[in-house]
Amino acid sequence: MIDKQSPLPIYYQIEEDIKQRIADDDYRSGDMIPSERELSETYDVSRMTVRQAVTNMVNEGVLFREKGRGTFVADQKIEQPLQGMTSFTEDMRSRGMEASSRLLQFERVAAPFDVLRKLQLHEEAEVYKIERIRYADQRPMAIETTFIPAAMFPGLDERVVQGSLYDYIEKSKQKRIGKASQMIEATIADEQQSSLLEVPAASAILHIERNSSLTDGTPFEVVKSSYRADRYKFISDIYRA
Ligand code: GLP
Repeated sequence: MIDKQSPLPIYYQIEEDIKQRIADDDYRSGDMIPSERELSETYDVSRMTVRQAVTNMVNEGVLFREKGRGTFVADQKIEQPLQGMTSFTEDMRSRGMEASSRLLQFERVAAPFDVLRKLQLHEEAEVYKIERIRYADQRPMAIETTFIPAAMFPGLDERVVQGSLYDYIEKSKQKRIGKASQMIEATIADEQQSSLLEVPAASAILHIERNSSLTDGTPFEVVKSSYRADRYKFISDIYRA
């Protein structure tokens, strides 16, 4: 496991080994990892080297320590590709997790000015404002506030948005979702967000805004969301022109 002749530092090899065990599901989120003493025996290295490896992984958020209890495997981040316009429900399903929502607000309101503009609506137009906490396997992942034109989806009700909005639009309403422009920016959780997302005060948040349209070009949603930065990382392949 550990190659003491290798030019790679030993603490680094231990980190890689523990990460591989997490990837292989030998250690699952919430599991306690062996103590420093046990690890130093397993790897046949000093406790100081083990401590360095573990501290690095705690700083990375892969592991977390609890005073007097031990060191545990943290929930691993979801790797979300930047390409592909998927729904939350699809994202979770494709990872073998169960998506659910808690509806915080469902209202028909006058569209806020920026939403009005983005949805290309006339001034008196109303929108549904849908605020949901999105859960993966019962753990909060994001708060999403969605605005959709009321005139476009007359039958929309609270029950529908407990499930997948995209499913409803495509399957029940037979509309074809085409594309979106999306913006991601770093923010810090305010008091309400940290309590709803069950994270410590002032945790890192990824603010994502998506403006989406149907294949015929009609804008149909503006979504402002706050994703837990400790549970998400975004990935993409890039090509040099
Ligand atoms: C993702 C997107 C949202 C979109 C939602 C639809 O979370 N970031 O912009 O509205 O998916 O998800 P669902 O169909 O599960 O309601």
